[in-house]
Amino acid sequence: MFSNKKIIIGVCGSIAAYKSASLVRLLVKAGADVRVILTADAAHFITPLTLSTLSKNPVYTRYYDPESGVWSNHVELALWADLILIAPASANTIAKMATGLCDNFLTAVYLSAKCPVYLAPAMDLDMWKHQSTRDNISRLLSFGNSIIEPNDGELASGLQGQGRMAEPEEIVAYLTSSLNQNLPLSGKKVMVTAGPTFEAIDPVRFIGNHSSGKMGFAIADQLAALGAEVTLITGPTAEKSKKPVRRIDVISAADMLAACTQEFKDSDITVMSAAVADYTPVNIATQKIKKQESEFSVELKKTTDILATLGNVKSAGQILVGFALETEHEEEHAIGKLKKKNLDLIVLNSLNDKGAGFKTDTNKITIFNQQFEKTVFEVKSKVEVAADICKEILKLV
Ligand code: CTP
Repeated sequence: MFSNKKIIIGVCGSIAAYKSASLVRLLVKAGADVRVILTADAAHFITPLTLSTLSKNPVYTRYYDPESGVWSNHVELALWADLILIAPASANTIAKMATGLCDNFLTAVYLSAKCPVYLAPAMDLDMWKHQSTRDNISRLLSFGNSIIEPNDGELASGLQGQGRMAEPEEIVAYLTSSLNQNLPLSGKKVMVTAGPTFEAIDPVRFIGNHSSGKMGFAIADQLAALGAEVTLITGPTAEKSKKPVRRIDVISAADMLAACTQEFKDSDITVMSAAVADYTPVNIATQKIKKQESEFSVELKKTTDILATLGNVKSAGQILVGFALETEHEEEHAIGKLKKKNLDLIVLNSLNDKGAGFKTDTNKITIFNQQFEKTVFEVKSKVEVAADICKEILKLV
């Protein structure tokens, strides 16, 4: 997505400047050619050396070096860029940009630029709410600039509220979906679940399963490549996303239920590939259980079926895709789950099929739609299987 994209990252004086290191790293890793501009105050929070090392390019901090007289051409740099991202954008720089002040290199580059400009503001909650900031933001929006809204949370002042700069991963996801506007899933919010859940027995033990998360991660990557804004809710796994995906880590089925319920409200497409535990211990021992008797049993209770819960509250227009892992009467069980959980598609994996199931790099699936029409696929790599699943989803969009 960012391959060969020329990106200027402007960093302003804010404690959130430390996050710009991760931001530069993520964009460089995604293939972008990144040049960083630091304002004088930003250089108190993060050093040019850090950012030049990560961006693999010199960092701009001023118009010219008074000792050598070397001058940086703000117009040339502005016209070079495909995209300018100001992160963190301080209230001060936002005010300068809104009013055309250009008393530093960053604002001069901004005024000279013709490419899309994105700002990820960071400031205290009252500064963010202040009418002058509101007016400045409205002006920047009217210029066609994009604002990546700050998050709610604890601020450097110790106060709670909106003002925390969006996380680097969220910023990259925003840029991705913005650049992806012509892709088939651009503007769509997607939620994917992946991996196993771990149900604690005591502080050191749990009940889990063999799910690696590979299938869910491949689906999330594929949907992101199609332009969707993807949130991946994953149980414990060593897998990593290859595309910009917002990741929420959870441990237990109850954690996954909470995260899914929260995210589902905004989700246009939901793909539930996690291997969620069906049972969880009734009690979790607070101390490590000592071995005593020759036999030991753990009393279990049913977890909430997350997929069925979402199917119950699904509204028209939301697409819900479930999985069924079966060992016998596969098709009958899969269709049963499709109906019972109010799904749009169900992806059947049979553990009887060679190359299907946990921890393999391949899978073999059959997909049923709401009309119970079935599409049978060959054994393929999980990345190819993810592409097949996404093609079926695209038919419904
Ligand atoms: N699922 C879920 N919450 C659970 C259990 C399962 O959301 N507590 C979801 C899985 O993510 C999958 C689908 O339900 O998309 C089917 O999971 P599967 O284990 O095949 O079936 P179950 O419905 O749990 O039924 P059973 O184990 O009896 O086959």
